[in-house]
Amino acid sequence: MLKSLEALLSFTKIEKAIFENDIFEENTGDSVTFCKMLKTLSGPELNEFLSAFPQYYPLDEYRKEVEATSPVSNEEQAILDIELVEVAGRIRQKRMDLEENTIKVKKQIIQRREGLKAEFNHYYKVISDQSAEIQVPPVQKDVEGGAQVVKLPEVDTAIFTESDIFNCLNNRKSRRSYTDEALLLSELSFLLWATQGVQKKAPDNRFSLRTVPSGGARQPFETYLAVHNVEGLKPGIYRYLPFDHEIVFLFTVDDLKEKVSNAAFEQSFVGNCAVTFIWSVIPYRTEWRYTLDSRKIILQDSGHLCQNLYIACEAISCGTCAIGAYDQKLFDELLQLDGVDEFVVYVAPVGKARKSIQVIQLPDHELKKFCGVYWSESQLLKRTILFKEGHLYYWRSAESESRLECIGTDKFNFMEADATLTFSADEENLRMTFHGEGEPVIEFTRVEI
Ligand SMILES: Cc1cc2nc3c(=O)[nH]c(=O)nc-3n(C[C@H](O)[C@H](O)[C@H](O)COP(=O)(O)O)c2cc1C
Repeated sequence: MLKSLEALLSFTKIEKAIFENDIFEENTGDSVTFCKMLKTLSGPELNEFLSAFPQYYPLDEYRKEVEATSPVSNEEQAILDIELVEVAGRIRQKRMDLEENTIKVKKQIIQRREGLKAEFNHYYKVISDQSAEIQVPPVQKDVEGGAQVVKLPEVDTAIFTESDIFNCLNNRKSRRSYTDEALLLSELSFLLWATQGVQKKAPDNRFSLRTVPSGGARQPFETYLAVHNVEGLKPGIYRYLPFDHEIVFLFTVDDLKEKVSNAAFEQSFVGNCAVTFIWSVIPYRTEWRYTLDSRKIILQDSGHLCQNLYIACEAISCGTCAIGAYDQKLFDELLQLDGVDEFVVYVAPVGKARKSIQVIQLPDHELKKFCGVYWSESQLLKRTILFKEGHLYYWRSAESESRLECIGTDKFNFMEADATLTFSADEENLRMTFHGEGEPVIEFTRVEI
């Protein structure tokens, strides 16, 4: 094997990751060299190389790139080999630099633990602006004159598809795939209220109690919305005005979805949704009272926002996912924030929840193995699994029969088409586990075939 390919194969896991990130993400041009080099391998050699090599980059993507590469002459191959050996050397150096830096960062990690601790002792050593009787800052940003304001419909629980709090909590999960359906304004209204809605306020709007708690009721956040697909709203950036339960249109952004996804480190679902919630913080609102403790309190506060969003989404068949991995600069720029007195702290895409159903492709005789009557001692239930028209069916009672379909990659993991019920079967032990969203896990044992 050529020297360069040998060098790449002997990479450590970390080196492979650096390599893949460098050549494919950073547009160094080395990906072309690499793919040209792969082009010189025969089919089986290429497969062997690829299966030993990639860590993050999907195999099919490599294959596509190699296919698109034009054939390489022997002379060119020799040059490529030298170039790629140099690349390998550079990657090794990067790994060593990384290791050196990691030793320093490990110390910082320990130091940063301090930021998790309460610092209320300082409270008595520092004169806070509150103690100095400096006027309390407002808890909602002003609206510029002439701005386009949209009154939100009053929150109406008639929109709930799930109003049982137990089910909302039990079903909550991070949902990263949404349908193309638009969010209704009534739904957006509910989600904004659930995350920042005002319950009580002082007449001067400098104090409010809301649907989320906040240290000292300082409510340091502003809610921005990247609206992509909300009924009746043109796409663009909006800001919530909790005191009047309105949103103000701020500006449009070209290619908004792409920019949002890009700012979330290419997590495409962050822009591929109906609306992206983007929370900024105005730290002074909290610092005015809590001085050095503010950082911890603000971060504690921010968790409440997103948790309320999760639960509220479950009530209206929507989904969300907390996003902490985002590019600070890009999001601040997107919202035109100064990054000092106000900056983004948390992001959450929202859309109608997609049921991730894929039909399992197993031969009939494999599927038939699961047919039978299953008994759950713990629940005193019998369930029948039938095979009909190439699919497994789950038979509950005389009136109810649901097709079981596969989710994920586990071949014995199925989902009921209309109710997000998953089941996994342990073929050897003739046991099945059913897990419905909102239902407890139930273990079944086969009692009859
Ligand atoms: C602070 C925070 C940041 C997160 N950031 C991301 C993120 O950037 N991308 C992502 O896909 N999920 C993110 N998540 C979601 C977690 O991966 C998820 O909550 C976790 O895997 C547990 O899954 P569950 O929420 O479905 O229970 C984040 C969650 C939290 C609380």
